[in-house]
Amino acid sequence: MLQNQIAPLSSSALVAVYPGSFDPVTTGHLDLIQRCAPLVGRLVVAVLRNAHKQPLFSLEERVQMLREVLRDYPNVEVDAFDGLLVDYARQKQAKLLLRGIRAISDYEYELQMALMNRRLAPEIETMFMMAGEAYSFISSKLVKEVIGLGGDVRGLVPPSVEQILVQRFPRKP
Ligand code: PNS
Repeated sequence: MLQNQIAPLSSSALVAVYPGSFDPVTTGHLDLIQRCAPLVGRLVVAVLRNAHKQPLFSLEERVQMLREVLRDYPNVEVDAFDGLLVDYARQKQAKLLLRGIRAISDYEYELQMALMNRRLAPEIETMFMMAGEAYSFISSKLVKEVIGLGGDVRGLVPPSVEQILVQRFPRKP
């Protein structure tokens, strides 16, 4: 028996947390959620309050957009958190943190976070899923840049989020 081995959980008992800024949620995030949700009992999409970054959307708006997009997923809940992610995960009794990797450029940052989180909470595992190939170029940051400069973000974000972005950044005639 390995030293840190723990009793196996059935997948229906497994709680996973998918943390992020979601400013705003993109179709890339959604793809990851859709692929992870069937693998676990409960998936908590956890929106960081983010004291350091200056988000475009308030915490309440980001949570609301996610809830709207994810309302048909019975085992997915949307919540907000601040403080250490691992403290939040423990509070939710989650054993898994989900993160997406789009390209090798994501890897370094993700590795650093995963190792730090493992040091803080060895009983919680980080699971990486590769972004779907159709979504691997999409980021919330680029979506905001494109819409802010008058570009089309259709397909990059869910339709309900696109509507909100178009209202926020009306096209100049
Ligand atoms: O979508 P993002 O902005 O890449 O998500 C980053 C996030 C929320 C996963 C990360 O900033 C985070 O976990 N913040 C919580 C603070 C924390 O636990 N920091 C120490 C662990 S690295």
